[in-house]
Amino acid sequence: MQIICGQLLEFTSDPIIGDNEPFSHTIKGALVMDQGKILWRGNASDLPAEYDSLPRENYGDCLIMPGFIDAHLHFPQYRMIAAFGKDLLDWLNRYTFIEEQRYGDANIAAAAATFFIDELARNGTTSCLAFSTIHEVALDALFSEAQSRNMALISGKTMMDRNAPDGLLDTATTAYDQSKSLIEKWAGTGRLGYAVSPRFAVTSTPAQLDAAGTLFKEYPDTWMQTHLSENHAEIASVVKDFPDSKDYTDVYDHFGLLGKKAMFAHGIHLSQRELDRLSESGSAIVHCPTSNNFLGSGLFKYHNTHRANVPIAMGTDIGGGTSYSMLETMRDAYIVSQLAGERISAYDAFYAASLGNARVLGLEQEIGTLNTGSFADIIVLDPEATPIMKERHALSNSIHDVLFAMMIMGDDRAVKQTFIAGIPQK
Ligand code: GUN
Ligand code: ZN
Repeated sequence: MQIICGQLLEFTSDPIIGDNEPFSHTIKGALVMDQGKILWRGNASDLPAEYDSLPRENYGDCLIMPGFIDAHLHFPQYRMIAAFGKDLLDWLNRYTFIEEQRYGDANIAAAAATFFIDELARNGTTSCLAFSTIHEVALDALFSEAQSRNMALISGKTMMDRNAPDGLLDTATTAYDQSKSLIEKWAGTGRLGYAVSPRFAVTSTPAQLDAAGTLFKEYPDTWMQTHLSENHAEIASVVKDFPDSKDYTDVYDHFGLLGKKAMFAHGIHLSQRELDRLSESGSAIVHCPTSNNFLGSGLFKYHNTHRANVPIAMGTDIGGGTSYSMLETMRDAYIVSQLAGERISAYDAFYAASLGNARVLGLEQEIGTLNTGSFADIIVLDPEATPIMKERHALSNSIHDVLFAMMIMGDDRAVKQTFIAGIPQK
């Protein structure tokens, strides 16, 4: 058991819906952790006497918040960040598909998993929905590492049976069989979740997408993750390969891959019909702004997607994304919204990276808040982390201003501490 003190800040509702104060903020707060969970939180002056003798860390004016959740990234791309490429398909063929072939080696995958989760924690990310590779050993390595830290992590074996090097291909049948046995082995173990993971319609045959849809239906506790409408050449290739489909979204729909726990990365160039169908089915889009900017994929229309009632999550999309930091991801989301002429607030961005992502994933009982009984996945953010952040912070006159400066200027340096299930990671 231990106590941490500082400014407690958590979101309680979706700011874009129009609530004036969509958060709870306790300036002189205290939080008690016990056995990986939040036992008590409130005003430090109200701390019950029975906790008086517990070890206590005082973080002063730093913000104590729920850990960030990254709703889309690629574990095997952990070190191929910042690869110079023309656009999505060029970048995939030239770098990504080469790097991912290494993950058939269990030792490489195990070392990568340790580094990957360390790097997430260093950046304040305590949960994620991640892609792996086609290799069973890679997923075993990632899940084992997350399990050893009692971390809530969702992943799955990538399914791909065409348009990639032989070393990165399975078949419809092996993908189905291996995914099934991995679901049986890992889904629901500790805090782990399984996502049926067809990479995208470019690299899966109709038979494999059908197998993915069958698994998603057979195992209602699983999530589904894939990519959708990221890049114009990608869309043209899918339309050509599936001439009977109405559009890209309809390809996945046809195979039963839409639904409440279906997470589609990017969704930049969707038609109104596609947005309406995603909304009707409860499917979510994961906005990946640093990746969309880096690969020149396009400007995601946050407000338009929201108006269509499509749930929006946020992710780094490492290694297409340029930073592990959800703060830097929020910064790019803000800039993209500016370029699209609409502007998201710091409340929108911080909500998305915490409770918003937890809700889209259906995990808000477990993560995304500082509620008692939740897992103690907590970060401590320092608004004065660098000399210039300190100067800027002196001008801040509202909590929105503090958060806004943090997301525009902050990165891993602003993360003073990260707790995963109550265990400090630094
Ligand atoms: N579409 C299919 N695979 C990928 C990937 O690895 N990264 C991104 N950004 N888009 C994809
Ligand atoms: Zn991706």
